[in-house]
Amino acid sequence: MHLNVFTQCSPSPQFKGFWRHPADRSATGYRDLGYWVELGRRLEAACLDALFFADVHGTYDVYQGSWRAAVRNAVQIPSIDPLLVLPAIAATTSRLGLAVTYSTTYHAPYECARVFSSLDHLTGGRVAWNIVTSYLRSASANGLGSYLDHDERYDRADEYVEVARRLWEESWDDDAVVRDAAANVFADPDRVHEIGHEGRWFSVRGPHQCEPSPQRTPVLYQAGASGRGMTFAARHAEVVFLTMADPASGAPQVARLRSLVAAHGRDPRSVKALQGSMVMVAPTRAEARRRAEEYVALWSGEGQLAKWCGWMDVDLAAFPDETPVAEIAGQGSQSFVGFLRRLGPERTWTVGDVRYLVATARRPRTSAPVTLFGTVEQVADRMEEWLSVADVDGFNLIPCPTTQGIDDICDLLVPELQRRGLFRRAYDPAERTLRERYFGAGAPVPARVPALDPQDGVPAPVEPAAARG
Ligand SMILES: Cc1cc2nc3c(=O)[nH]c(=O)nc-3n(C[C@H](O)[C@H](O)[C@H](O)COP(=O)(O)O)c2cc1C
Repeated sequence: MHLNVFTQCSPSPQFKGFWRHPADRSATGYRDLGYWVELGRRLEAACLDALFFADVHGTYDVYQGSWRAAVRNAVQIPSIDPLLVLPAIAATTSRLGLAVTYSTTYHAPYECARVFSSLDHLTGGRVAWNIVTSYLRSASANGLGSYLDHDERYDRADEYVEVARRLWEESWDDDAVVRDAAANVFADPDRVHEIGHEGRWFSVRGPHQCEPSPQRTPVLYQAGASGRGMTFAARHAEVVFLTMADPASGAPQVARLRSLVAAHGRDPRSVKALQGSMVMVAPTRAEARRRAEEYVALWSGEGQLAKWCGWMDVDLAAFPDETPVAEIAGQGSQSFVGFLRRLGPERTWTVGDVRYLVATARRPRTSAPVTLFGTVEQVADRMEEWLSVADVDGFNLIPCPTTQGIDDICDLLVPELQRRGLFRRAYDPAERTLRERYFGAGAPVPARVPALDPQDGVPAPVEPAAARG
């Protein structure tokens, strides 16, 4: 089983209001190197696969047409740039994978290739790129480029990945760096190539500025949940984040992903599917009950609304309660409407329903499969169910509340999974890079595959990503 921990370089990742928890250290720690270094060491001691950093550009200013609610509730503002944190964690760990988000809409691919080659060198081959198209249109108000509609973002991302991969994979031959002191040749120019890319979005000559890094190409993560997003993931990704409601209804979604991967001529097992789940593990039932009460008390409805409106690109405050949500779909994530369709296929979901769903804290239930909540035995049972019924390869764990949640993953959950023989007790020394951890020693960079005809397969809607940037 593969286990990642989700985080953001901002207070109380994902759970708005929880920075007020008495044990919280994220509210000030997010901007403190010591905090990240300690977290990295802690996760490595627990043998986690990777620490995953989500990130956005711009502010969540869709709700009420303003960023005020986002600021009040620390909805990824303030935040710092996670790319800068990685080398510090890498310097104090040796095995933990480091996965970081980078936008195909608001950066240039040449710059991306250089950033990830640099990180892969500095981490000794432990880096992954979470490829995102970025849903916040406010980034464009800050000079980061034009906002593109949902599907167009993915069109650009297709070409973007192609360019970045050509820079990593075609520019420098394996033997280009000769370091021949006698001949006074550092690298052989005949073995370094321009890529000469001319496309709809990008014109990139090359050559790539970095020599090949341990993995050459970072491990490619993606979380496309719409039809277009899943096709993108099936074409490019090696690790896919899914946020499914329960193992039984999730099984066809994982099967759908694997069949889309196969339709692209790839081995369906060559993609690792990670279920994203909030995790709140308690040592006893009584403590779990107490934490459920605390969860309700700390929940910030306004913060959650600000976050969801940004995800959806729809201001839920701007429409009368009775407006059908399907009529006001924005250009953000498109999976939410699909989720509602699944939840109540006969029902016309309204803005009022969604506002209530998002803003109201509900006590986590030990029987609810999407949240890994309860005693350590209950949570481990749930995880086993996910593995066997939904055929996922592991989890992207979102610790709640952040600081205590991380302690509980390391001190309670991992030991239980190890006792059950479900999780490694030590890193395999044969697996030197993050890609090898996922796909075995010697695993190559996957071949690039051409795009399918867009008419081939219209993937079914899946649940919304409860965990994102
Ligand atoms: C676990 C997880 C992490 C994500 N992290 C980010 C992120 O850091 N930044 C971002 O812009 N989007 C992030 N997303 C959003 C996805 O990139 C994507 O937009 C979303 O899953 C909706 O897909 P769709 O646009 O195909 O509907 C994340 C999604 C998931 C499930």
